Amino acid sequence: MRDTFEREITYLRISLTDLCNLRCTYCMPPEGVQKREHGQILSFEEIEEIARAAAELGIRKIRLTGGEPLVRRGIVTLCRKLRGIPALEELALTTNGVLLPDLAPELKAAGVDRVNISLDTLDPEKYQRITRVGRLEDALAGIQAARAAGLTPLKLNCVLIGGFNNDEIPALASLTEREPVEVRFIELMPIGDTASFPPTAYLPCEAVLERLPQLERLPEDGGVAQRYRLPGAAGTVGLIRPLSRCFCDQCNRIRLTADGRVKPCLHSREEIPVRGLHGEALRRQLERAILHKPEQHGVLSAQVRSEAHRNMNQIGG
Ligand code: 5AD
Ligand code: SF4
Repeated sequence: MRDTFEREITYLRISLTDLCNLRCTYCMPPEGVQKREHGQILSFEEIEEIARAAAELGIRKIRLTGGEPLVRRGIVTLCRKLRGIPALEELALTTNGVLLPDLAPELKAAGVDRVNISLDTLDPEKYQRITRVGRLEDALAGIQAARAAGLTPLKLNCVLIGGFNNDEIPALASLTEREPVEVRFIELMPIGDTASFPPTAYLPCEAVLERLPQLERLPEDGGVAQRYRLPGAAGTVGLIRPLSRCFCDQCNRIRLTADGRVKPCLHSREEIPVRGLHGEALRRQLERAILHKPEQHGVLSAQVRSEAHRNMNQIGG
């Protein structure tokens, strides 16, 4: 359905859990988050019911996020159920990849179409520093497993952080040279656990274009990324610029939190509870959430933080 600004809302992001097996410094506190009582998060039955109601309102694509969606037990079963919703055209996942060597073939068999995998650096020591507990080789094995299982086209998410990985822009972009992957540089957002980052960490994506002037612009594909290609490359480079270029006019999504609230906008405090509703009441509440989407969020910058009062691990990006 359309929102009040004529945007067709077709995309639902579902956060399955706040928990994660990593502790990325821009996302989570070092000690992690308290595991919630089982009853505090939506059951798979509830998630499926909400997803079906959303599909009746025109949702065509679902992405499962977290925290880390693959730490939620039984996720393969949930994927199979969701993929059985007739109107659904795409089921995707955003993951840190660490558990993919175990799960990629089963996820594919359950009907997952593709995955986006976080990869902020190619340096093992820096990977450990940014994720606090992760090992680069595990993420790389996950990428390989996704590729082997056909969870493609693969997208690799790289949060651009001034003073941390800007020196790796060429190396990360060259991952696209021989393979049809999209490497996406994402501007660091001032949300959740990023309060301690210095202003210089908020590096605009312009830095990618300055470092790689040979990038050729590609036509927009309706997503939030501006797309480019290195000359002759098999894959593409995407720039996601929540700070330097507002893409609210193309926003086609709503988000469901693990505890059963719909967020009409990532950067707003507003949350609309849908837990416990069924049938017509559930549909009406989802409609309300879509109609509550603001035209755009306020300006974000190193100084002006997002109004969302949750950490990123509770929203799922
Ligand atoms: N700014 C930008 N991207 C973020 N992510 C998590 N926190 C932030 C932030 N503060 C990204 C992760 C992952 C996706 C789910 O969101 O790197 O790729
Ligand atoms: Fe986990 Fe992703 Fe947050 Fe890193 S960014 S701690 S991998 S949820």
